[in-house]
Amino acid sequence: MTVAEPNTSSVEHPHFIPGPWTREARIRAIQDEVREAYINYFRKAVKVRNWFPWDDLPLDEMKERGHLLSPDTITLIESFLGIEDYVGDYVENAINIVRGDRERRNISIVWGMEEAKHAEAWHLVLLHSGVRTEEQIREYRDKVGAHRWTMGENHPGFDTPMGIAVYAMVQERATYFNYDELRKRIRADYGLPEQPTEEERRRGKQYGAAAAFNIVAKDEIAHHAMFLQLVDIYKKYLPEETLDMIFRVLSGFNMPALYLIPNESEMKEALMRTKMYTPLKHARSVANPVLDKLGFDNKRALERAVQEAKLLPAGLGPEHVAIGRSGDFVVSMTSGTTVPQQAAS
Ligand SMILES: [Fe+2]
Ligand SMILES: [Fe+2]
Repeated sequence: MTVAEPNTSSVEHPHFIPGPWTREARIRAIQDEVREAYINYFRKAVKVRNWFPWDDLPLDEMKERGHLLSPDTITLIESFLGIEDYVGDYVENAINIVRGDRERRNISIVWGMEEAKHAEAWHLVLLHSGVRTEEQIREYRDKVGAHRWTMGENHPGFDTPMGIAVYAMVQERATYFNYDELRKRIRADYGLPEQPTEEERRRGKQYGAAAAFNIVAKDEIAHHAMFLQLVDIYKKYLPEETLDMIFRVLSGFNMPALYLIPNESEMKEALMRTKMYTPLKHARSVANPVLDKLGFDNKRALERAVQEAKLLPAGLGPEHVAIGRSGDFVVSMTSGTTVPQQAAS
């Protein structure tokens, strides 16, 4: 950690409270910023991502080329139907964990509305591709419903308001990655190039099931961005505990509810055969982009920040502290809006 020369520039901070930052002031500042994030998220969820599974997916095209889908592709789509169909448990757990925090509760409700569309999209894909009957899908979804998912059991230690935000930030990015990979697999099965053709671009929709995966993947990356924003807010006001949680989640991440879905073993075999989601791909396409967006060069930089955060003098607020990309903290004893350049150790 470095301590900067006194910086005399004044600061206009919306949450500036003279004197040392108390925990209460930090929580209050977090709530104010989370409220803004919630309003922006809600607006885009209903005004931009306003698609409806039963109206906006090219079901006829799914029928036309459904017979071309490979068995592994079908297994993976069915597996994601199972994972998405635990939406009720995800929302129930989140609401109970954030109890008392209105903004986080409301985010969970809107997020659940968006997530509920995803299982329905996979239901429609399986049905209209002609690879599962309505009866088979009902049976599968009933088996999903017979189990109960809990955050505490599946991801012990992450079942706190901050923990579920950090976990969701990573999970949404991983889900986005998986859906984009599955979109590419479907296109290959259909005999189409990886990227949309001129014709698809013109009409603004990819072909058949690839359209569904493209639309849902956009939801997932938007969710990732929203949870990332929440984590950034927590990191700003509660750096020590937030950095520690980010480190713990990144070190012990796995996808939710995998062990509960009815076709768990088939999914694992399909994942092994297709190599769609490997530890290396997770590092490259999920963990590293998350670290980068949080402002760190790599995992070592995060580790350094976790250690340095423990040494921060109590009472310092975000106007006194800046974290470098290599995980080093720069502390200014007077408030300033810019990162002080030169510092004496
Ligand atoms: Fe989803
Ligand atoms: Fe999502």
